[in-house]
Amino acid sequence: EKGGYPHYMLKEIYEQPRVLENTLGGRLSEARAGVELDLRVDPTRFERVHIVACGTAYYAAWVGKYLIEGLARVPVEIDVASEYRYRDPVVDERTLAIAISQSGETIDTLEALREAKRKGAGTLGVINAKGSSITREVDDTLYIHAGPEIGVASTKAYMAMLGAMAMLAVWMGRARGTLPEAEARTFLGELRKMPRLVEQTLEKRQEIAHIAEKYHQAADYLFLGRHIQAPTAYEGALKLKEISYIHAEAYPAGEMKHGPIALIDERLPVVVLTTESPIYEKTLSNIQEVRARGGRVIAVATEGDLEVRRFAQDVIYVPRTHYLLSPMVSVVPLQLLAYETAVLLGRDVDQPRNLAKSVTVE
Ligand code: F6R
Repeated sequence: EKGGYPHYMLKEIYEQPRVLENTLGGRLSEARAGVELDLRVDPTRFERVHIVACGTAYYAAWVGKYLIEGLARVPVEIDVASEYRYRDPVVDERTLAIAISQSGETIDTLEALREAKRKGAGTLGVINAKGSSITREVDDTLYIHAGPEIGVASTKAYMAMLGAMAMLAVWMGRARGTLPEAEARTFLGELRKMPRLVEQTLEKRQEIAHIAEKYHQAADYLFLGRHIQAPTAYEGALKLKEISYIHAEAYPAGEMKHGPIALIDERLPVVVLTTESPIYEKTLSNIQEVRARGGRVIAVATEGDLEVRRFAQDVIYVPRTHYLLSPMVSVVPLQLLAYETAVLLGRDVDQPRNLAKSVTVE
């Protein structure tokens, strides 16, 4: 049932191009330069969006914030669900509360959603599991269609969540008149190519296995990224922690000089997301800061970027895309890095200690 793969996690990593096709399937409209989501929620009625989620789904929320604010110009707040439910959030009828969850059963996410609903928010679930608890309590559900995910560490569901958030952002932006037709067309053209681009990143496995080999004895890892790649850094660190038990920390790259830079020495591998974006140069200078202090840099960069080679010991190239879609191509090498590292260390990849697939207790 693992389809010839040694672990479910690896199988699910390799399923990602097909999963993304399913997520996007039939929903992108060429003719209208838009997205058809078949939702009852009115995207023009809201003044603000609150997104709640836990763990990996929270990082999808964070990516979603940049997408929705970027394309639909609606203010988006994101919260870890266990914080949201107890912080007495400011919510009214002009708030759309979105819960993102693979299982649809995570109790903190469900309770955070209930809290928003009690306060009058409209509610939308971005969910994988059909008919799950959250889908029964929201006004509307956008299914991500990732199929059953068995590996405890979430991979393909994350990819599908990112696809769903990109579609939601276009859907809102088109309805609210903030996303012009031509821009929507370009963005959707890139989104449509994404399953193929994700497929290409899978070809990097051997290269990544080699990097994993080089650093699997490290006691700590640091992951850095800016803007929409900051959540990618956090997701990369989470994957590595979960299945290899190596301590990994993520930071928005610009925050490094405010503290974590003290950690850098020649024993610390630092993964830097430095794909093309309007702030590419800023991240490049962070790489130089790490190098100047003896840190080992593993850069995730856009195919064709030769400049980054001058500063990073290792470069993993990912295909060029719209920078708001860069998390989709960039997370794959980080999933593979975590996987290969965990295998080298003899960890139980599909059943990491202390973790459960769905967290239905507080
Ligand atoms: C990470 C992981 C967890 C879940 C989190 C939320 O690999 O699997 O962090 O993402 O427990 O789960 P769902 O999405 O089911 O609400």
